[in-house]
Order: sequence, then C-alpha cells, then structure tokens
Amino acid sequence: MKNIVVLVSGGGTNLQALIDAQNRGEIKNGKITCVISSNPNAYALTRAQNNKISTEVIRRKDFAEFDEYDNALTELLKSKNADVVVLAGFMTILGSKVISAFENKIINIHPSLIPSFCGEGYYGLHVHEAALKKGVKVTGATAHFVNEVCDDGPIIIQKAVEIQNGDTPEILQKRVMEQAEWKILPKAVSLFCEDKIIVKDNKTEILD
Ligand code: GAR
Repeated sequence: MKNIVVLVSGGGTNLQALIDAQNRGEIKNGKITCVISSNPNAYALTRAQNNKISTEVIRRKDFAEFDEYDNALTELLKSKNADVVVLAGFMTILGSKVISAFENKIINIHPSLIPSFCGEGYYGLHVHEAALKKGVKVTGATAHFVNEVCDDGPIIIQKAVEIQNGDTPEILQKRVMEQAEWKILPKAVSLFCEDKIIVKDNKTEILD
C-alpha cells in the first residue's frame, strides 16, 4: 500500500475528489496518509480533518531563504514516508531538492491541455481567462509528473472539455473541474499506486 501525501493551498475540491475516490475503492493500492497546506486557512485542511487525515502546514514566508524552505518541505515529505506526492491546487513553487528527491513521484493537476496555457503565471483562474481570451473551442485538464520546468513533466492523463457560449472564467473553471480534473487526478494517482505508469524520454506509457 503506497502512502499518498497531498499538497494543497485553497479550497481543496481536488483533494475532495481524491478522498471520494478512495472511499469508493477507486484508489487501488494507495491511501491518503497526510495533507500538507501552504496556507493555514485553506478549507482543504477542514476537508482532511473531516476525514480523519492528518494535516501539516508549511509556509514559504516562514523561511528566510528559498533553499531552507525546499529542504524543510523535502524533510517533511520524507518524515511522512510519502511514496507519491500529489499537488492538488498547491500554489507554491517547488524547489530542486524536493523535485529530485521525488523524481517522477510528484503528480500535479493543471487546468488546461498542456502545452497550452501553462508555465509561469498560469494557475487557477488565470488559465481559464487566457483560454477564453484566445478563443479556443476546447480546453481541459492534464495530470502530469513534476520536473524542474514548470508544467513540463511527463503527461499521465488529459481530458478535453468544450467551451460554451457565455462562458466566464469562473463558469469554465467549474466545468473543467467537474468534467476533467476530479476524474483524471484520482485515476492518475491510482495508476501510479498500481505501478502502471512507465516513464521514458519525458513521456509516459500506461499499462492496462
Ligand atoms: C484547480 O483548478 C487546479 O487545477 C489549479 O488550481 C485549482 C485548485 O482548486 N491548479 C493550478 O492552476 C496549478 N498550476 P482546488 O483547491 O479546489 O482543488
């Protein structure tokens, strides 16, 4: 059974999707053992507590240097015996120490079809604002491994979502979450826990 540690910053609807999938028995060979937040007021922490999952808070601003923060987060994840780290709306940039300590073991959910609308500055509602500004007809979400380059790691699963007339960033964000993120993130985590993801040349192969 793999230990799943989930990193959050906000509302935690993707964390909730993981918890719900776990309760339905859809996370095979894995268990959410800890939720770590960058924000002590994140509602995601309440969701974890409601489900008797242990919680921790680690704030970037409590460390003078970025390296100290990077070291502290790495040590915290190691102390929790994390087998897989899930970024579920985690809004603090990860450092090279944590990324190399958990190479191809950190899964992020991004609210667009990578390589569109991703990279620095593309997070949360900004992603949907950019998609609507460009006028794309289809957007979606991507579950991928994290590497040193923002939103560039091997793609695990993608799901497309149609843009509709009258969409606002908020309406589109909700549709992308409901139709894509909340489905593909638990699926990607389960595939990882079942050892069904092979990574080669910055790409993945999913075993059936
Ligand atoms: C989600 O839409 C997630 O894809 C996005 O933030 C939201 C968090 O919502 N993440 C990023 O933009 C990362 N680049 P949640 O806290 O309700 O899961």
